[in-house]
Amino acid sequence: MPRSDIFDKSFDEVTLMKLDLFEKYLEEWLGVYVSKFSSKKAYILDLFCGAGRDRDANEGSALRSIKILLKWQKKYDLRNVTLILCDAQVEKIESLESILEHDLSYQGNAFNIRRYCKTFPESFFQIEAEIKNAFNLIFLDPHGFNFITPEIFKKLCFLRYTDTIFFIASNFANRFVANPPSEATFQEMGLKEDIMQEIKNSDHYEIHRIMAKHYRKLSHEFCHQDKQLEGVVDKIFLSPFSLKKEHTHNIYGLIFLTHDYCGIDKFLHLAWEKNPFNGEANFNIDRDYDPNRNDSQLRLFPIEKVPSNRLTALHAIIDRELSQREKISNKDLCILCYENGYYPQKANEYIGNPPIY
Ligand SMILES: C[S@@+](CC[C@H](N)C(=O)[O-])C[C@H]1O[C@@H](n2cnc3c(N)ncnc32)[C@H](O)[C@@H]1O
Repeated sequence: MPRSDIFDKSFDEVTLMKLDLFEKYLEEWLGVYVSKFSSKKAYILDLFCGAGRDRDANEGSALRSIKILLKWQKKYDLRNVTLILCDAQVEKIESLESILEHDLSYQGNAFNIRRYCKTFPESFFQIEAEIKNAFNLIFLDPHGFNFITPEIFKKLCFLRYTDTIFFIASNFANRFVANPPSEATFQEMGLKEDIMQEIKNSDHYEIHRIMAKHYRKLSHEFCHQDKQLEGVVDKIFLSPFSLKKEHTHNIYGLIFLTHDYCGIDKFLHLAWEKNPFNGEANFNIDRDYDPNRNDSQLRLFPIEKVPSNRLTALHAIIDRELSQREKISNKDLCILCYENGYYPQKANEYIGNPPIY
């Protein structure tokens, strides 16, 4: 029997939130591009682009990108922008072609769209050299767990003017640790013993945070080991957003990767907008707002007067930093915030004025 496809059903709340974050970030990214870089070539890569719509006509990533570009082309010069859509299944690409031809007023003259039926990572290897010095946004939205290997991740870290958002079914790591499928999967993903121990010993709500830690460690390793990378990038910011499907234990998540202060700032603003309580999940990841309703979801956030664990954690980070040095520059404070998943106003609320929650 053929496996059911997400496009034959309605997108669930995890998918819709993932797509909304991608779409909102794409608009922020385009804003930076048209204001500063529009003479430069720009690429939006969607290498697991899907069929376009779900059963209820909810738009997937490809159509969301096209619609945004169609809107922006009315006001801005997008001649240097290319959207690259790839999927391993030919019927997905055909479905997109058909929507483009029949449903959208895409004339093909303001920005470029390229469609390929190609599997990842071949699709990425094919385009890598072309996008090397361009301004890029890469969206990787596979079903599974083991697509963003250390080899691929290293290449993403090397791309200087590039922001990447990738999805990972992090709960697979929990399952694998409990029931190892094979040593090869861990090796393929570069998961080290300390990370595996942490997975074993942690609340399953933490799993995507731990996967982000795994990638952050890899990025630091690459920076230190690889002189070439050190010369290309002075900073890599990485931020997770955990996603949980209601009434299940399954945890997924997005990882955002950038070299740019503006990029991380915009992503974190979106993440905190999505969840003003913890800024990094669509659920109560720290189980800290209602002990009687551990499984509560985003829309049940109470308006409480006490700081969340995430904000208390930031206060502790700042206090520790200030106890080690008398002063902290604005730049250092920004970096401290970005590296820990906060945008700087969160710190100002604490340092500048009595905090308002
Ligand atoms: C979660 S869906 C992507 C959904 C899409 N981002 C959207 O919003 O509509 C994953 C897609 O990856 C495709 N796929 C599966 N394995 C692949 C591979 N190795 N390379 C490229 N695409 C693949 C599937 O055909 C499917 O359309």
